[in-house]
Amino acid sequence: MKAVVLVGGFGTRLRPLTLTSPKQMLPVIDRPMLEHVIGGLGRHGVDEVVLSLGYKEDVFREAYPNSECAGVALKYAVEPEPLDTAGAVRFAAEAAGIDETFIVINGDVFTDLDVTSVWNRHHEVGAEATIALTPVDDPSRYGVVPTDTDGRVLGFVEKPPVGEAPTNWINAGTYVLEPSVLRRIETGRKVSIERETFPAIVADGGLWAVQSDAYWVDAGTPETYLQIQLDLLDGVRGPAVDGISTDATVDPSALVERSVVMSGATVGANAVVRESVVSMNAVVGDGAVIEGSVVGPGAIVGAGSRLAAMTMVGEGAQIEDNAAYVGAKIPESE
Ligand code: GDD
Ligand code: MG
Repeated sequence: MKAVVLVGGFGTRLRPLTLTSPKQMLPVIDRPMLEHVIGGLGRHGVDEVVLSLGYKEDVFREAYPNSECAGVALKYAVEPEPLDTAGAVRFAAEAAGIDETFIVINGDVFTDLDVTSVWNRHHEVGAEATIALTPVDDPSRYGVVPTDTDGRVLGFVEKPPVGEAPTNWINAGTYVLEPSVLRRIETGRKVSIERETFPAIVADGGLWAVQSDAYWVDAGTPETYLQIQLDLLDGVRGPAVDGISTDATVDPSALVERSVVMSGATVGANAVVRESVVSMNAVVGDGAVIEGSVVGPGAIVGAGSRLAAMTMVGEGAQIEDNAAYVGAKIPESE
């Protein structure tokens, strides 16, 4: 099975971390987000991944120079300019010479979804496209997908106003597509699979869906980027993971609770790190207190400083001693 993995977005909601790294290359516990995602696909029998790239494509190439990631063969398809989700799929599939049924996934989705069952259902009903659905509390941030009792999709509404979604089953960002879908996508301009292609296939009766309540999180926001890591620590997805790297230096007087401290990071004397991520090579100064926040790679938090409420410190940023930030982005970014 071949899969196109969409990783070309700007990751604006995760700035400032994504000013220096594409979203899917941000670290999650001990490796880039992308390796967790592709590892999951590999376990479901995907043996070739086409990375649909744009923003900061060099970061991917440098990380995987041998065209292999998590044991799966990689191909690179670099868009000359962002083509949006459908344009990107067509561009990548053609670049890789895909002319059979294939998988597409959003590269920022953390899930235990059974891709094989979506693949099987797709063939069983003879769909042109089949998408996985997951239930969420607030569907307004996602593609909302009502179906009939057999799973035939009745409509596809991308990001409806709060309170107006017809169902709380949303597009989980995992699709099985026939190559005929590619021919529906106009070339030379941006085309959104959610706003144009899927509604057109619905109109022809060819879009099907498979509901799943397996673990599923879109890691594209500060809150969810933190959540996927806390879930791994808490054992929500299997055996609990130890968040403190054996290559980190944590002073014996420091308190690290339900947090990730990545390799090369240092946590100073009497510092407190709670429900937070301290990325590789970052430094938390003596007596600093970090709560519900993310310190980016190589960033330095001065002694006695306090960061709270989803403060995000960008790669290499430096915070003075005894500062206090609540819900801040450092450096500031729109
Ligand atoms: N190559 C390429 N080119 N990739 C892109 C482009 C582009 O122009 N635009 C976005 N992407 C990639 C992003 O990097 C990401 O991996 C994926 O496409 C989805 O984009 P997001 O920006 O994360 O979209 P979203 O989270 O708001 O919504 C999408 O995902 C939801 C589920 O996680 C939609 O597909 C929703 O319908 C869906 O519910
Ligand atoms: Mg997303």
